[in-house]
Amino acid sequence: MSTIIAPSILSANFGQLEKDIEMINQSAADWFHVDIMDGVFVPNISFGFPILSILKKKATKPLDVHLMIVQPEKYITSFAEHGASTISVHYEACTHLHRTIHQIKDSGCKAGVAINPHTSISLLEECISDIDMICLMSVNPGFGGQKFIEHTYSKVERLKNLILQKSAPTLIEIDGGVNDVTGPRLVASGADVLVAGNYVFSSSDPIATIANMKK
Ligand code: DX5
Ligand code: ZN
Repeated sequence: MSTIIAPSILSANFGQLEKDIEMINQSAADWFHVDIMDGVFVPNISFGFPILSILKKKATKPLDVHLMIVQPEKYITSFAEHGASTISVHYEACTHLHRTIHQIKDSGCKAGVAINPHTSISLLEECISDIDMICLMSVNPGFGGQKFIEHTYSKVERLKNLILQKSAPTLIEIDGGVNDVTGPRLVASGADVLVAGNYVFSSSDPIATIANMKK
């Protein structure tokens, strides 16, 4: 399987959002990564359903929704109705993670679980077979354009081994600080999905940057 590339809309120019959506539609990208921040789980607020409605209408590729919010279980149905294809909740925000994973699946979406840099992958061992995708945060969530945390490479390798050992169908997504240096090494370590915000949108030729990532 070739690496899935998911540009993060968080770094788009919201003054010309439809233009940036169209750029991703035309590019080699596979998914739209959609970062939802509530100012409580993370120290930043991003955007909500009005932007999701625009994405649902204009995006021609699946929406990969990353919920950096407390009590995500309250909003699963709404995000599913707003066109999410995958919904990732944070391990650190879910008291009843197994229940929430199945709530996502029952809503018709793929279930993702994101973990912060300090969270051990061993905490997902009991429910890994139920998880469609694990998102390893390679920065502390809340902002685009942060520096990649090097420890992530070994975390990807260990997670890949766990997935193989359990014969789980789980994809590994990496979120934060992905670029032309970290990306290839992450793929060599076992990553399946690369999220990129700043690297794509600060590029003078985002279409070419996405095409290079895809290669
Ligand atoms: C960070 C977000 C990321 C962010 C990545 O909290 O979850 O998806 O957009 O941005 P870059 O690629 O700029 O690190
Ligand atoms: Zn994200």
